[in-house]
Amino acid sequence: MQRWGFPQRFIGWTREMILPHLQKLLDKCLTESGLYLTGTAGSGKTCFSAVLGKELIRQGKEVWFKNITDLLFEVKGTFDKDSKIFNDYEMICNWAAKPYLILDDIGSEKVSEYVRQSLYVLINKRYLDDLPTVITSNLTMQELSGRLDDRIASRLTEMCRTVDLGNKDLRVYKQK
Ligand SMILES: Nc1ncnc2c1ncn2[C@@H]1O[C@H](COP(=O)(O)OP(=O)(O)O)[C@@H](O)[C@H]1O
Ligand SMILES: [Mg+2]
Repeated sequence: MQRWGFPQRFIGWTREMILPHLQKLLDKCLTESGLYLTGTAGSGKTCFSAVLGKELIRQGKEVWFKNITDLLFEVKGTFDKDSKIFNDYEMICNWAAKPYLILDDIGSEKVSEYVRQSLYVLINKRYLDDLPTVITSNLTMQELSGRLDDRIASRLTEMCRTVDLGNKDLRVYKQK
């Protein structure tokens, strides 16, 4: 799973370890072709998407996991003269072609025109090719539309079922 980009922290997590109401939600989400997981920081979005991905891998699917900020840094890194990787557009297309892709934490990156364009290309390709995509974000779809790009939000609205994981910070909650 590490090879497909899953975060080490959640690789050991299984369906049985997540909160009971989320286990039910997970079963429903397994059949969706797109998900937009929203909720405040610590509500469990990254964890939930990783466990979901793990279940899908168990079903034989090829699932990739990528944090959006990391992706954008790597895309910009292709400008370095020592970079072995083609160019920024090719790198985005490479990610856009993954059979099943989990994109973690959209909307937390600093938004420049370049970021907006890169994410538009990525999302639009997946939209046009009808490829299953899970996106997590601290922002609601409406906030994402205002902060990032209304064209991206509009495509995501059509591609994804929105699931709100709420506003309880499980990081704090766990310590109590
Ligand atoms: N479904 C869950 N059941 C129990 N604990 C959870 C669950 N999801 C997350 N946690 C705990 O809360 C912490 C934060 O989860 P995380 O997925 O990183 O939140 P977010 O991505 O929404 O900021 C995790 O490190 C984990 O300890
Ligand atoms: Mg997260």
